[in-house]
Amino acid sequence: MSFFRWIFKRNRNKVEIDEGKLPDHIAIIMDGNGRWAKRRGLPRNVGHREGANALRRVVLSCNEIGIKYLTVYAFSTENWKRPKSEVDALMNLLIEFLKSADRELAGKNVRICVIGDVEGLPLNIQKEIQRVTKSTSRNTGLNFNIALNYGSRAEMLYAVKAVADEVKKGKMKIDEISEQVISERLYTREIPDPDLIIRTSGEQRISNFLLWQIAYAEFWFTDVLWPDFNGDILLEAVKQYQNRNRRFGGI
Ligand code: FPP
Repeated sequence: MSFFRWIFKRNRNKVEIDEGKLPDHIAIIMDGNGRWAKRRGLPRNVGHREGANALRRVVLSCNEIGIKYLTVYAFSTENWKRPKSEVDALMNLLIEFLKSADRELAGKNVRICVIGDVEGLPLNIQKEIQRVTKSTSRNTGLNFNIALNYGSRAEMLYAVKAVADEVKKGKMKIDEISEQVISERLYTREIPDPDLIIRTSGEQRISNFLLWQIAYAEFWFTDVLWPDFNGDILLEAVKQYQNRNRRFGGI
């Protein structure tokens, strides 16, 4: 069923959004922080800092529009290959982000979760993750998932090993292995598959993000660099998503 709502953009222009066709789950590959900084002659870390601010804006926008799930790719298993100073800066930003999240999101009913190999992260970050996920666990608004130390192939490998172990121990028969069995052993077991995946900065690849989960997702790419991303651009993506014809393999 369609029911329309006008949403004001920052320039006071209005966008008409069909509330009956909102994506339940938006996943974002936040790319272009480094290039944003380079274009301004600034260190890459300044780009990451502005990227964290863009993320704050987008969390609030998703919550306002009524999106149920937002998953962002904040740190991949491959990102450890960056220079130590950049990895350290990203970890510091992350801890700052998590520490201030409760205050900034107070009263917004946002639930924060983390997906990825949390045990491979520094201890202080693990503790902060534990604290913030616990303190927001009862919230019923936007489910905000941060992918940290996340790699989709590693996630699938982990699921396959878990299933193999259950078969070996006689807890499951080979015939019982289904798509659902695999899905239930992924980090995203409690999260529906993304409906819309956004990547910024003009790159058009998936970079080991949610490979299993995006089987039927709609892709939306923009040249905008992540630090410049905002609620208006998000609305543009949602609007275009609503014009897509999703057939899930049917006709
Ligand atoms: C890509 O920019 C972005 C990342 C490596 C991760 C995203 C990080 C943030 C948005 C900042 C901090 C996040 C949190 C949760 C506090 P890039 O460095 O690959 O950009 P480039 O391709 O232009 O070099």
